[in-house]
Parts: sequence; C-alpha cells; structure tokens
Amino acid sequence: MVQITDAVEEVRRRIDIVDLVSQDVALRRSGRNLKGLCPFHSEKTPSFHVNPERQIWKCFGCGAGGDIFSYVQKRDNMTFSEALEWLARRAGVTIERGGRAGSAQSEKQKIFKINEIACEFFQEMLSNSEKARAYLVERGVSESAIRKYKLGYAPDAWDALAQHLGRKQVSLAEAARAGLVIARESSEGYYDRFRDRLIFPILDASDRVVAFGGRTLGSDPAKYINSPESTVFAKNKTLYALNFARRAIVDQDQVIVVEGYMDAIAAQEAGFENTVATMGTALTEEHVNVLARFTKNAVLAFDADSSGMAAALRGSPVFERAGFNVRIMVMPKGEDPDSLLRGGDRHRFTVMIEKALPVLDYKVKLALTGHDLRTDEGKTAALKAAVAVLAEVESAVERERLIKYLAKYHPNFSTGTIRAEDHIRSEVETLRRRAVRAGEAGRSREEPTQHIRTNPNLLERLEKIVLGTIIAGKVEAGKVFEVIPAKEFTGESTRQLAEALYSQFLELGKIKVESLITMLADTPAGDLLTELTLGLDESELNHPFDEVVRAIEREKKKLRHARMRALAQKFQEGVIKKGDEEFEEYWRLVKELKGTSSNAV
Ligand code: UTP
Ligand code: MN
Repeated sequence: MVQITDAVEEVRRRIDIVDLVSQDVALRRSGRNLKGLCPFHSEKTPSFHVNPERQIWKCFGCGAGGDIFSYVQKRDNMTFSEALEWLARRAGVTIERGGRAGSAQSEKQKIFKINEIACEFFQEMLSNSEKARAYLVERGVSESAIRKYKLGYAPDAWDALAQHLGRKQVSLAEAARAGLVIARESSEGYYDRFRDRLIFPILDASDRVVAFGGRTLGSDPAKYINSPESTVFAKNKTLYALNFARRAIVDQDQVIVVEGYMDAIAAQEAGFENTVATMGTALTEEHVNVLARFTKNAVLAFDADSSGMAAALRGSPVFERAGFNVRIMVMPKGEDPDSLLRGGDRHRFTVMIEKALPVLDYKVKLALTGHDLRTDEGKTAALKAAVAVLAEVESAVERERLIKYLAKYHPNFSTGTIRAEDHIRSEVETLRRRAVRAGEAGRSREEPTQHIRTNPNLLERLEKIVLGTIIAGKVEAGKVFEVIPAKEFTGESTRQLAEALYSQFLELGKIKVESLITMLADTPAGDLLTELTLGLDESELNHPFDEVVRAIEREKKKLRHARMRALAQKFQEGVIKKGDEEFEEYWRLVKELKGTSSNAV
C-alpha cells in the first residue's frame, strides 16, 4: 500500500505511455516520437505525438496534451483521482486512502459499485435458471460467451435484486439513481426495473459496468429495456461491446456497426471482433466521434427491415460528416447479423462485408427494389425512383458512374447502351434544373475548416525558447529567473509556466517535467509545457542563452516605447489627463526610457 503522492510516481514508473495509447491509436515511429491520428478530434493526417522518453503526448492539431493521467482522464471522461485509480489498478498498485477520502466516494464510483454488485447477482441468477440457460443454448450463445459478456438473468420477481442489494447494505435510493430499482408510487420501498429478463451488462472502455440492457423472456411487450441515463451512462455516446472491439477496430482499420446486443455478440463470437452495437438508438455524432478515434472506415450492418434500412440511411451522413468512408451492408430480407451468423456461415458474412455498398449505391439499389424488373413497366418505375436519387447527387463523376450502372434497366438498352445512358442523363438533368429553380439544390457550401496555426509574436516566441531551454535542461532555472523574473514573462501561458517552473525549482532545486505535466494538466501552462517538451527543435534550443535574453530585453523595450507613444497620443487627444492612472504610467515610461530609442540595444 502506498500513499497517493507515491502512488502517482509508482504508477508513472510502471505504465508505459506507448502501451497505454496504443490501445486506442495506431502509432508509428517518427524520429524520437511516435505519431498517430488524434483520438480527441477528427483528422486525416496524424498530428498526435507520443514521446516515450518523456512519457507525454501532445496533439498539434487540437492542442490537447499531457501525461498518462490526463490521457485517461480525457479518454474516459474521468477526474484525476478516477484516472489514477484506474491506472493504479492496471499497474497493480494499491492506493492507501485516509478514512475521509475513502468515504467521500464520488457519485460515479457509487454507481459503478452498485452496478458491479447487480451484475454479479444477475450472473448468479443465470446459472440458477434453467429457463434462461435453455434460451441462450437455443440462441447458440456459448458458455464462454456468457462469461465474456457477463450475461445474466433478472428473476421473474418484483424485488429479487432490491432484496439482494439490501442484504449487501446498498442504499436503494442510490440503486434507483443507477436505474436498477424504481421507487413505488403507492407505498414505501422500491421494485426491480429488470424482471424476467436476460441481462446484457454494458461496459465502458475501462470495463466498468455503466448500464444494463434486458431482453424479456416472458410476454412483456417491451422486448428490450435499458437502464436510464445516469452520471455514468450517456446513451448517445455509448456503443455496446466497444470495450472488446477497440483493438480489432484499430488493427483492421474498420468498424462494423450493428443494431442489437445479440448481433454484436454473434459477430464478435464469429470472429468479427471489430463489431459494436448502437443498442437500437439512432447513430449520433457522439457515437461517431468515439469511433473516429479508432478508424475512419465503417460498415453498417443493420437489420434488413424498414427501420434498419432507415437507420442506415440516417446514420451514414453522420459518419460522412466526420470524414468516414462508410458502406452499408445489403442483407437478405428479414435477416439480421445474429440470424445470419447463427447458421455458422462466417464466409457469407465476410463476402457481405466486402460487398457492402457506398451510401449512394445503396440508395439507388433501394430505389430499384420493390419493382418487378422483368417487365418494362417495372423497369420504368424503378428507373424513375433511381433518377430521383441521382438528381440529388452533387458530384458529376458519381452521377456518371451510376448512370452507366442504371443503363441496363432502361427500355432503350436493347438499342444501345449510349442511347440508354443519354436518356437517363437527360432525365436526371431535367430534375436537377427543376430543383435549382425551386431553390432546393446547390446549397451545399461547406466551409473548409482548416486549422491555421497563428504566428505568435516575437516576444512570446523568445519566451518560449527560454522556457524550452530550461525544460531541456540546457540552462539552470535559477539562473534564468534571476535575469528574467518569472512574473515578468509577458504571455499569459508563458508567465504561468515560468511561475510554475520557478516554484518547483525553489521547492526541489531542480525541474521535474513529469510531475509538472501532471500538476498543470488542462491549463494553458500545461499545454505549453507539453508543446515545448515535444515541439522545440534542436536549433532553437541551441541559441546562446545570453543572446535570447538580450533579444527579449530589446523586444520589451520596443513594446514599452510603443506603449509610451500610444499613451502620448491619448494625452494629446484629451482622452487621458494628468492624475489619471494611464497618465502616471506614461510619465513613468518617459522617465524610464529617457535617452533610449526603440531601436537601441
Ligand atoms: P431488435 O428488435 O432488432 O432486436 O432491436 P434483436 O437484437 O434482433 O433482438 P432479438 O434477436 O429478438 O433478441 C435491436 C436493438 O434495439 C434495442 C436493443 O438494443 C436491441 O438489441 N431495442 C430494441 C430496445 O432498446 N428496445 C426495444 O424494445 C427493442
Ligand atoms: Mn435485430
């Protein structure tokens, strides 16, 4: 057992940042650093750096950066102490907590604890229930899958869990906040939310139970119910089975998205480990952003029913907006991934993934289905629907590609491909002109949001070089701050960082970058610190220190001259007068700068 401060150091010693980040990001070596796509914003070229020597990370695209602790905090939306606890558990470090700290558990931790107790209870109930086990056997779920996914059974009773939680000294009011029990309306007490249901625990990236899904094994008209939202469960961000899929998604650079719990389990068990489920809800931007950390390639394998197809069509633009390459699987009518794979036909599923269609082709295909393509009337109706889809397509290249594909359905096809294509093209164009006139088309003006790095002014740049020189250990902090006091740094973040470096130097007699990064996490100074630790090149660090200091003094003098001139102007214009604070400042500057010009050294 170790004290918290020691625990931080111990965890830092045992966990390698490269191992940690590699769970989520495919990293490639690039000089002294490793690079990959940032897990915290969407990007196409890697600007996310990990430095194994310093054990820090930094994204030069979105500016985020820090150490192992801030990485986990940001990734899993945890507080520092939660991240420490998680990493400590992983590293096998036990943290000793004072009595008070121990009892002051956060709401989140309480819910996790209750969920864990409930999860174990459901698992035990499953092993006791003939009926539930028989159901799983019938659906082809193996013993090992039952264990892996921690499947359980909520008994057919009003308060089996409530009683169990009571025996475990769990507050039922808290269990209600976790969504496991519900307060009775007419009397005292609570009843179980999940009754006579197969239980699917929903785990987060850290394998903690955030919620449950339950499938009825009785006649309840609600086939599935899920835990309500809580402080640990946000439906629009959660994807079922992502904890198991993360690695495979990165390795294969592709994610398969299905609708249901059973679909995800069946797919993963059949070897398609890169599968996650949306749990029946609509795909949100948040879901997609979570996935964007791992890959930019998605295959939607939704149910082949009307709601599944609608969900795929609604979901795909969400992926596309996030820069995904998305395809939709064409499934035989009435099937879902679970039913397909239950037959054990792994190969067929593989082919279906390969043959999944780009969104546009999928829409055209949908337009064609439902018409009898053996008759001329059927062909005409199908074409009309397909032409309507094409008219919406902005890219001329894409339109041409699909016009060629559609030609074979045109009644003129027999008289020549070219003529059929011409006909379709002119129909598409007519529709498009009509749409433009109606003011509907041509409005996709997407502004390219390019990241432009601002050019910091020279003084701040010089200050950064000074701080970078300290951090790289090329000059002693004490010596620097004697010449330029920390509080006189002019930039907001450079001053904060200078002050932090100075106070650490006073305390320890040296600079320990690692613990400063932890301390300054999520502050402008912390961002600057990671930036400087990774970002300065040797040439900048090798400026003779004295020269940099002289350059800083010169810049500061220039600034004071400029300020003096500005104040003089204000005085002349009568904006300020004698006795004003700004006049006092002006007078001070005049005396200070007497005999020097803004260009003097
Ligand atoms: P489906 O109705 O397609 O269920 O809903 P399924 O996965 O094929 O179920 P089985 O095979 O009959 O057991 C897909 C997903 O939508 C959510 C669940 O997450 C389910 O897995 N859902 C469905 C609900 O949340 N509530 C419902 O009432 C139905
Ligand atoms: Mn289904």
